[in-house]
Formats: sequence, structure tokens, C-alpha cells
Amino acid sequence: MSRDIPIHLAPDATAQPLAPTETTARALDAELAGLATPTDRIRAIRAALPGRIAFSTSLGLEDQAVLHAIADSGADIDVFTLDTGRHFEETFDTIAASEARYGLKIRLVAPDTGELERLVARDGVLGFRTSIESRKACCDVRKVRPLQRALAGADGWITGLRRGQSNGRADVPFATYDAAQGIVKLAPLADWSVETLERYVAAHDIPVNALHAHGFPSIGCQPCTRAIRPGEDIRAGRWWWEIADGKECGLHSNTAPRS
Ligand code: ADX
Ligand code: SF4
Repeated sequence: MSRDIPIHLAPDATAQPLAPTETTARALDAELAGLATPTDRIRAIRAALPGRIAFSTSLGLEDQAVLHAIADSGADIDVFTLDTGRHFEETFDTIAASEARYGLKIRLVAPDTGELERLVARDGVLGFRTSIESRKACCDVRKVRPLQRALAGADGWITGLRRGQSNGRADVPFATYDAAQGIVKLAPLADWSVETLERYVAAHDIPVNALHAHGFPSIGCQPCTRAIRPGEDIRAGRWWWEIADGKECGLHSNTAPRS
């Protein structure tokens, strides 16, 4: 009798791995909540999603902790940063220090040249100060659209979001399905307090942006970030001329609430 597997039952070598779904995200959300270390969380993320997983880093404290965990885990993750063209010099120093420490490359994703030239021709180099609409247009060209390009085709998107960062982030899930992008959005440090984060960074001697020591807990583009005063909210220095609550650049506007 032939031991060959009938052709209709044989594994199809050309079959694509299944794209993640809402169900994948829900299961991963529950699994991540039960894991204690960021290294274990990164490994679980890698095991759950078959395709490319991208980590968007702003080089902030949370992102540096995630980068350390990625390096520690040995997982294959595409690490990139959105180079808006308006970053602090210290942020580039942090990129170089991190690449040297971990022996990996942080991919720089730039805005589209034509879109950028049209934006600046219309609004000027400081147009983002004139209205919220102009500010959002700048974030759109320099961050949101390049982000969409960087994430195209990926199964997973790792971020450094924490629930304690702002009221608007209080319900950030560990994993959620972003239907607009067809991707699982991940926040492996979602439940961490700032104290837990600082302890982890100190314990592992993780390279950090030098600006943190000068009153900058949250760092974005140079013209849109200032140092905070004692007692101020940790995001008070971001787009400080706009109203206090709900300030976002649009990168995370699609984050679904925790179910
Ligand atoms: S922002 O929306 O206000 O700019 P924030 O600085 O708090 O965001 O960072 C939250 C997360 O957004 C980071 O952990 C990171 O995943 C992503 N992010 C923010 N800025 C960038 C950037 N320039 N490049 C890549 N990812 C970024
Ligand atoms: Fe433009 Fe400021 Fe947004 Fe950076 S943070 S993209 S400079 S508006």
C-alpha cells in the first residue's frame, strides 16, 4: 500500500501563514497580561504572529526598555524610528548609543520629500504653531504617513505606550487588533508604572536620552517639546501651547479601548 499522503491532504508548501485577526489579538492580550518580564512578553509576541513585527521607537525611556527586551529576547523584530527632520541632537546620540550597545540597526523612516516641500511651502517652517490644523498637518506628513508606510504588510506593531502616560492612554491594551491597518498593535509595557520603568532602566544600565536628566520626561520633535517644571504632568512639555488634555500627534488615534 502506498504511504504517500493523498494530494488533497498534503501540506501546501506555497500556503501563506494566516494573517492575524481580532481573535489573535484577544488571545495575545490575555497571554501578555500573565507574563512578568518584558523579555517573555516579546518572545510571546514573536511566537504568536507569523509575519514581520515592527517596533516603532521614539528613543524615549519606554522605548529604550522595549529595545533592551527585544535584544535580550533574540527575537527577529524590525526596529525603526520616524525621522521627522525636527528631532533633538540628543535623540540621534541615543540612536547611535543604542546601536552600539545592542549591535543592531535602527531603521530611519523619512517623510515623503514632495509632501514635505508642499507642507513647508504652504505653512512655513514654524507653521505648526499657528493652528491645531497646521500642527496636525505637520504631524501627518512627518509622522503619521511615514508610519503607515513603515507598517505596511506587517503583522505586528510594537509600541512603548503605557497606561500611566496620560488620561487618554489609561485603557491601552497589551494587544489590540487595528482593523484599519490589519495589524496587531502591541504595548508590552502597558501596565508599567514610571517607577517600574525607571528601576528596569537603571538595573540594566540601558542607554537613555540625555534630555531626560534635564526635565524632559517625554521627548518628541525639538520645536514641539519643552522641559517640564516640578509638579507638572509628564506630557505637559509636548505641544505645550495647546490645551492640556488629549494632545496626540495622530500616531495612536486608532487605538481601540481595552475590551
Ligand atoms: S506621541 O504620539 O506623543 O509622539 P509618544 O512620544 O508618547 O507619542 O510615544 C508613544 C509611542 O509612539 C512610542 O513608544 C513609540 O512606539 C511611538 N513613537 C512616538 N514617536 C515616534 C517616532 N518619532 N518614531 C517612531 N515611533 C514613535
Ligand atoms: Fe511637526 Fe511638531 Fe508634529 Fe514634529 S511634533 S511632526 S515638528 S508638529
